[in-house]
Amino acid sequence: MDSGKWSRSPRSLSTPESLRAAQIRTGKTKLVDNRMAATYRAVMLTKKGGPAVLQVVELPIEPPGPGQLRVRVCAAGVGSTDLILLAGNYRYAPKIPFVPGYEVAGVVEAIGAAIGPGATGFEVGQRVAALTVFGGFAELLVRGAEHFLPIPSGVSHRDAAAVILNYVTAWQMIHRVAKVQAGQTALVTGAAGGVGTAALQLLRLAGVKTYGAASAPKHAIVRSLGATPIDYRAGPIDRLTRALEPAGVDCVFDAIGGANIGPCIGALRRGGTLVGFGFLSAPGRLAQLAMFANIFLGARLRGRRGKFYGITMLYRKDPGPLHEDLPKIFALLAEKKIDPLVTRTFPLLEARQALEFLATGAAEGKIVLTNG
Ligand SMILES: NC(=O)c1ccc[n+]([C@@H]2O[C@H](COP(=O)([O-])OP(=O)(O)OC[C@H]3O[C@@H](n4cnc5c(N)ncnc54)[C@H](OP(=O)(O)O)[C@@H]3O)[C@@H](O)[C@H]2O)c1
Repeated sequence: MDSGKWSRSPRSLSTPESLRAAQIRTGKTKLVDNRMAATYRAVMLTKKGGPAVLQVVELPIEPPGPGQLRVRVCAAGVGSTDLILLAGNYRYAPKIPFVPGYEVAGVVEAIGAAIGPGATGFEVGQRVAALTVFGGFAELLVRGAEHFLPIPSGVSHRDAAAVILNYVTAWQMIHRVAKVQAGQTALVTGAAGGVGTAALQLLRLAGVKTYGAASAPKHAIVRSLGATPIDYRAGPIDRLTRALEPAGVDCVFDAIGGANIGPCIGALRRGGTLVGFGFLSAPGRLAQLAMFANIFLGARLRGRRGKFYGITMLYRKDPGPLHEDLPKIFALLAEKKIDPLVTRTFPLLEARQALEFLATGAAEGKIVLTNG
């Protein structure tokens, strides 16, 4: 079972026992283990590749350890970062084999012994959410209680799972990194995607005038979020943005990376801020190194500020900001001030099909897996 504390190699997933159970159930071996306890199903990555290499397996149910919760997963978010994990290019992925799934909403099923004098603060039956990074594409998940936050009433499991990664990312880039002011202007690239649509909504709430770079078939969704769409395939993004904002915009939030960084800097006014957060067009280490050099040095040489935001990098350093920001996002959801635009749902164990659909590039908004 994925009992990951934040370890690169979650103990129970990498044990021969767990893998053997998985192999038995997927028919890859003739071994029969009569001692096998009750099992749960999960979608496992057993080798690097695309969605096609994912397999549904059965794993033994384990009790939560001290300070841990076992949660029945009701919904799990799907996003481009999962594709990067599958390809073996993600810094925070554990060793293969592992169960992907970056964010979950579910119900507490069992509580491990308290560590020290305090209780975990959770009750069986309580609805909770977590940024898991991996482990979410499973019927059950075991993690340290400190990683879970309660889901307020009025927020569905589906919507809770849909906002954890994308809205915390967008919120922290907007309010903690760029520190936008009402009346400013911003360009968002990958604007019709999960983080992009979240950023457009949160920028609008902050009183910022927005531009969204997206392919032409996705302009309706960008427009529906109050942004002016820009067809990035029609030319360089700096020229297209300056045709609308001749002095340049105050902020750019860039999902694309790679060769897109230079034009994004060019779309900024002098003194403006670029926040890079994605690698959609920066495959491999060298491309990413060149991209970081351009964000940090290139921007400064051109009189702009360049920053890179990474949710997991920040969370591992200090979980406090996520624990402060996710409840604000749940409150906005409950008040219907944001809408995670869940455009497709798939059954939990159809993570492969959901990721195959995402990889076609046709998806808009957010894809969520639901269980029951
Ligand atoms: N740093 C962080 O903390 C963090 C957090 C979450 C996600 N991310 C990263 O952010 C990126 C976006 O994630 P997401 O889940 O929002 O993705 P998504 O939902 O798949 O959306 C990506 C959008 O970008 C557009 N796009 C794809 N490739 C492009 C390219 N080469 N040039 C221009 N546009 C392109 C696609 O639409 P059109 O091309 O059709 O317009 C799509 O709408 C990924 O790299 C992900 O790993 C980073």
